[in-house]
Amino acid sequence: MTYKAKFKVWRGDDKDGGLHDFTVEVNDGEVVLDVVHRLQATQAPDLAVRWNCKAGKCGSCSAEINGMPRLMCMTRMSVFTEDETVTITPLRTFPVIRDLVTDVSFNYEKARQVPVFEPPADLKPGDYRMSQVDVERSQEFRKCIECYLCQNVCHVVRDHEENKKSFSGPRFLMRIAELSMHPLDTRDRRKEAQEEHGLGFCNITKCCTEVCPEHIKITDNALIPMKERVADRKYDPLVWLGSKIARRK
Ligand code: SF4
Ligand code: SF4
Ligand code: FES
Repeated sequence: MTYKAKFKVWRGDDKDGGLHDFTVEVNDGEVVLDVVHRLQATQAPDLAVRWNCKAGKCGSCSAEINGMPRLMCMTRMSVFTEDETVTITPLRTFPVIRDLVTDVSFNYEKARQVPVFEPPADLKPGDYRMSQVDVERSQEFRKCIECYLCQNVCHVVRDHEENKKSFSGPRFLMRIAELSMHPLDTRDRRKEAQEEHGLGFCNITKCCTEVCPEHIKITDNALIPMKERVADRKYDPLVWLGSKIARRK
């Protein structure tokens, strides 16, 4: 079955832009990205859009569709009614380069600021066997496709450009939590998470979890356990006493 659907697509650059109206053919089984490609092929050849895999795995085609952060290649047209206008806008949290393409380098900068895995210096290959429970704990976080939908939706930076300097966002706080859960990571990441990556800004609204296309439980399984570890370090009287004694020595 084929029908004509109404679209509003944001077009412009970092200085100026607005919503443009289009009517585009839609066929059975298509996703939003198919329609955007048809729009490019038939009416707007210079429309800028970023995509790569068309399979929900490269994380390139992130946009806001009717105000919801989503992957264009994984959003079926069948979730909208035929008479509904579908509005496609670029991710709001990052600067627009052109049309639907944003500059996501904020995320690469934050990624570089997370210190890498630090196993014990004298550990030799074969010295340690991971237990299955430790493997499974971090497996979920490794599913991340770096689409940055979670980074885009988090209110700490979405409307507060000034927080970007001190807040790394859910994707990278999750990475710190993942490293911190690794039994062989020797680095104490709790102070860094709190003081350098802004864990304290997160008030566990779970918006990041809601938009994650990989269904990673970012808040429940990474951010809250990390907050608990930070609280243990700061408020547990035994930990506090231990650190005092260690400092005296
Ligand atoms: S749970 Fe925390 S990191 Fe996730 S969207 Fe809410 S404030 Fe941001
Ligand atoms: S955690 Fe989920 S929403 Fe965030 S970047 Fe990874 S896949 Fe995307
Ligand atoms: S094109 Fe790769 S996730 Fe959509």
